[in-house]
Amino acid sequence: MIAKIKVPGGQKVCGVVPVSGAKNAALPLLASSILSNNGLRLNNVPKLLDVDTMFSLLESLGATCQVVKNSVYNDSVELKTDSIHNFTAPYDMVKKMRASILVLGPLLARCGRCKVSLPGGCAIGVRPIDLHLKGMEALGAAIDLKNGYVHATAKNGLRGADFEFPIVTVTGTENIMMAAVLAEGTTVLKNAAKEPEIVDLANCLNKRGAKISGHGTDTIVINGVSGLREAEYDVLPDRIEAGTYAIAAGITGGSVDLIGGNFEELLPSFMDKMKQMGLELSAIENGTRVKCSGKLSSASVNTEPHPGFPTDLQAQTMALMCLVEGESNIFESIWENRFMHVAELMRMGADITVSGAHASVRGVKQLRGAPVMATDLRASFSLVLAALAAKGDTIIDRVYHLDRGYCCVKEKLAGCGVTVERIN
Ligand code: EPU
Repeated sequence: MIAKIKVPGGQKVCGVVPVSGAKNAALPLLASSILSNNGLRLNNVPKLLDVDTMFSLLESLGATCQVVKNSVYNDSVELKTDSIHNFTAPYDMVKKMRASILVLGPLLARCGRCKVSLPGGCAIGVRPIDLHLKGMEALGAAIDLKNGYVHATAKNGLRGADFEFPIVTVTGTENIMMAAVLAEGTTVLKNAAKEPEIVDLANCLNKRGAKISGHGTDTIVINGVSGLREAEYDVLPDRIEAGTYAIAAGITGGSVDLIGGNFEELLPSFMDKMKQMGLELSAIENGTRVKCSGKLSSASVNTEPHPGFPTDLQAQTMALMCLVEGESNIFESIWENRFMHVAELMRMGADITVSGAHASVRGVKQLRGAPVMATDLRASFSLVLAALAAKGDTIIDRVYHLDRGYCCVKEKLAGCGVTVERIN
């Protein structure tokens, strides 16, 4: 396991970034394979630790996940799920990756029972799954919590129902949508999440014969079907990875061509904010060019469910704000503890105060390299960004967080003329 990364400061990020498939689309798509006996081939699957963890989980249930085409940044994977024989997602896997909870809906729908470890808290917040469970109960499942595990059963199968989420949840919407695909009758999910990754999952399921409509709006209607057919599907490009490299251009006064999708469309609030701060955006073939050629202005950001400003770009945006003259503000309204990067950025000379869900960032002229620690996935890249713009070297510890969700960072940065060094 790679432990640290050394980032020499004062580097300008200029070049082409081939954006990989989205982690947060690939994980539910992989879990959805369990819904059917028939196979699924996924293309554009990013090479990430979290994807490997999902492969291990699916294999422990009896599936096979075979990489059939291997390119530099993405794989094509063939999933065979005709011999699912185990119904348990164990603690060891769920504690490693909370998205393991995504097997709950598919297992319950296909096998009528499952046992999934409760995820517990994590660095960015408590992360309860109460709404996943309430949704399954609405579809007729019996839920029992015992010894740290959710035991869910649906002896006579699931039945369509109306369910309204009291708050918007991304994986909650995905889990219940997947379960409802094989339920008898119609399910209506209200106040559903609208993220592009939800739309991607629904599109893949529909390609396999599911009857889902309304995805991408806050009301999703699912008419249950008796089974899903084989299909091949391309995972959506990773808008969070794209946004992260857009900030790399912004913080270093560089320019990046983000290739793989229309990122202005996939990240409406984020890209609007970047334009407001002074970045220049233009559409290019199969992508978006982001260029920084002048002084940037301070801004206020409030993280919200899609189409609002994504919480998964908050830490990286904060790194940018650290070097923008004047006071910027961030309100983190999704996760209660997603400011752990603040202390690390301050070790590099940032001027930030936090009060509850609000961070006030006063721009400084220069950040300085320092030894820092990655605390979670997005925080880890915010430190890389700060380090690229800083004076001197930064050593970032615990970069396994980075490997969970950012594909080939060293190679992609090298493609933009930037050197970072892995230290074992
Ligand atoms: N919540 C509940 N009860 C639930 C579910 C969620 O109270 O049953 C609360 C959470 O505690 C949180 C809010 O609802 O305060 C939103 O959480 P959500 O369920 O939407 O988060 P998630 O589905 O667990 C996904 C992404 C996260 C991303 C969030 C918000 C995946 C695999 N993960 O998590 O991505 O931050 O949505 O957009 O899709 C990341 O990639 O770095 C990451 C953390």
